[in-house]
Amino acid sequence: MTKVSSDREEYLNKVNEIDFGNEAPKHLDSSDFFTVAKERRSVRHYDPNFKLSDEEVRELLEIAVQAPSSSNLQPWRFLVINKQETKQKLLPIANNQQQIVDASVVIAVLGDTKAYVNADRIYDELVEKGMMTQEVKDFYVGSIVKNYGNFPEEIATKVAMIDGGLVSMQLMLAAKAKGLDTVPMGGFDQAKFVEAFNVPENFKPVMLISVGKGIKAGFEKVRLTLDEVLTWDQF
Ligand SMILES: Cc1cc2nc3c(=O)[nH]c(=O)nc-3n(C[C@H](O)[C@H](O)[C@H](O)COP(=O)(O)O)c2cc1C
Repeated sequence: MTKVSSDREEYLNKVNEIDFGNEAPKHLDSSDFFTVAKERRSVRHYDPNFKLSDEEVRELLEIAVQAPSSSNLQPWRFLVINKQETKQKLLPIANNQQQIVDASVVIAVLGDTKAYVNADRIYDELVEKGMMTQEVKDFYVGSIVKNYGNFPEEIATKVAMIDGGLVSMQLMLAAKAKGLDTVPMGGFDQAKFVEAFNVPENFKPVMLISVGKGIKAGFEKVRLTLDEVLTWDQF
């Protein structure tokens, strides 16, 4: 293991030296949006015996994919890591963060840099629904293919990352509203992940999200004050 990756592993696992107390994640009686948004926390301790069904995972993802995306190209792709042996394979790649193996599933959110190839299908649906004329559709799809199809790799990746971030947030909020807990993770070796899971070249890793039944609450929220992060009209 290189020095850099062991430093990163140490950094990520220092979290275990923090006293989380024994409080369970807050049970919400309401899935009211404001309550869910305020109460979601990154949870790193899970009941390893709790299992989500495939149907429950699909339900969460159905809500997540209602997120907005650039030109509605929906570049998000998901790899659900469900089997215990597959989670074990991911564990060292994700710096041995315990939530990888204890949570019910780990969802790898990926961003497709070639999502523009679906433009025709997506915009056809608008024509079929009578919301767009064929002529307007041809214009849109032509522009999308010309622009997105010629983006340099860096820009295509940036677009996929922004949309991937939006769908990830929506997934975490959907989970909280369903009484589940999550933690987003950027702390993994992307190159090793791509290799180990045979990820197609155009699917760029956005983040991993553990989803399950939390048994210890995440940290209490610590946030900069709004005034520290807010400017009106101009810097
Ligand atoms: C992109 C991203 C990557 C993150 N990576 C990790 C990670 O690898 N491991 C971890 O324990 N937490 C990770 N976190 C969680 C943050 O530490 C957490 O969101 C932050 O401390 C705020 O706490 P809260 O989510 O409970 O509000 C990540 C969060 C984001 C948004």
